[in-house]
Amino acid sequence: MLKNVIVGQSGGPTAVINSSLAGVFRTALDLGASKVYGMRHGIQGFLEKNIVDMKEKVRSDLDLELLKRTPSAFLGSCRYKLPEISDDKAIYDKIFEILKEYEIDAFFYIGGNDSMDTIKKLSDYAILMNSPIRFMGVPKTIDNDLAVTDHTPGYGSAAKYIASITKEVIRDGLVYDIKSVTVIEIMGRNAGWLTGAAALATCEDCEGVDMICLPELPFDVDAFIEKTAELLKKKNSIVIAVSEGIRTAEGKYVFELTNHTEYVDSFGHKQLSGTARYLATLVSEKLGCKSRSIELSTLQRCAGHLTSRVDITEAYQVGGSAVKAASEGETGKMVILKRVSSDPYICTTDLYDVHKIANIEKKVPLEWITENGTNVSQELVNYIRPLIQAELTPVMITGQPRHIVIDRT
Ligand code: F6P
Repeated sequence: MLKNVIVGQSGGPTAVINSSLAGVFRTALDLGASKVYGMRHGIQGFLEKNIVDMKEKVRSDLDLELLKRTPSAFLGSCRYKLPEISDDKAIYDKIFEILKEYEIDAFFYIGGNDSMDTIKKLSDYAILMNSPIRFMGVPKTIDNDLAVTDHTPGYGSAAKYIASITKEVIRDGLVYDIKSVTVIEIMGRNAGWLTGAAALATCEDCEGVDMICLPELPFDVDAFIEKTAELLKKKNSIVIAVSEGIRTAEGKYVFELTNHTEYVDSFGHKQLSGTARYLATLVSEKLGCKSRSIELSTLQRCAGHLTSRVDITEAYQVGGSAVKAASEGETGKMVILKRVSSDPYICTTDLYDVHKIANIEKKVPLEWITENGTNVSQELVNYIRPLIQAELTPVMITGQPRHIVIDRT
């Protein structure tokens, strides 16, 4: 039995993170919680007591349905790293004082591997202080780089968007009878799961991309130009998918080879941007053909108009499972997705120790990258395909998706 609970969203948003929020909210109420609080901008807002009553913000079944279909983080997010407990006990005392003030007995954090670091530290502190408050992680990230879980909510919809948009870009590239190269830059930081989704463009009506470059392997700029020149001898339009995080053998990000943004967040992650622009410019310089760069940037993580129904449903389920587990006394765990079979696709939820998940990045297995390093195997395509299935269209009003926003009157 739960009394009051609190939920927050953290890290980069996704098209379905609000479906997990809806899952936490609905399930907590169904299990008898009196109050479901939401922290604005994650733990950072929580420390300033920037806390809302979810019932005042999501007032009806229609609101809840809109929440499920609204991309980005309804409560706002943060990239905020809690210090080690031994370095700053005062901040933990402050957090637990606020939790006491609001009579919270369960805390849910929807996020990726950095956010699970918050759950790990808070659940450790609760044990240290003999506190009965439970801390549960709800998985989310378009990057799909969380350990243990088969995949992460948010990934399927981003992969569906990438697979679809890549097909459209390939179609567009075929219109002129001239040589041209298009480089598409895809998110995913140090893991190539998202970039690999470009392989799904290949199907009976599309011959697919010509190269896929993942961050799992070192990137050789000269070999890239050579391979592109070879490809251009055989066909007019070349489309290449590259990860934002590809690096040279010396470990330098490719985007750092030219003018770039210098921003580092509190987890030490550099803002990655400009890889495609750099490579496309280089192609034109070296090969003298037309080139274009497309940075999918935030488009790939907020495409609420092209979500995967499988993804949005699982996002809701992991939220609900976290609340159920906390009501049964679980703490210091993250909900994981366990694939029972791919065809037919069957997936269940389970729980796993958050200490074995926090701060760990799961990469694409090297066996799923082709020997020449510029494509992915059928295994990766088979792994992704079930995750992008079916649609859940937005609620359309006057020709546009309707979203629920937190600060409406
Ligand atoms: O965490 C997911 C992610 O979308 C990464 O793929 C990307 O590198 C990063 O977030 C961008 O983060 P931000 O929006 O904070 O710049």
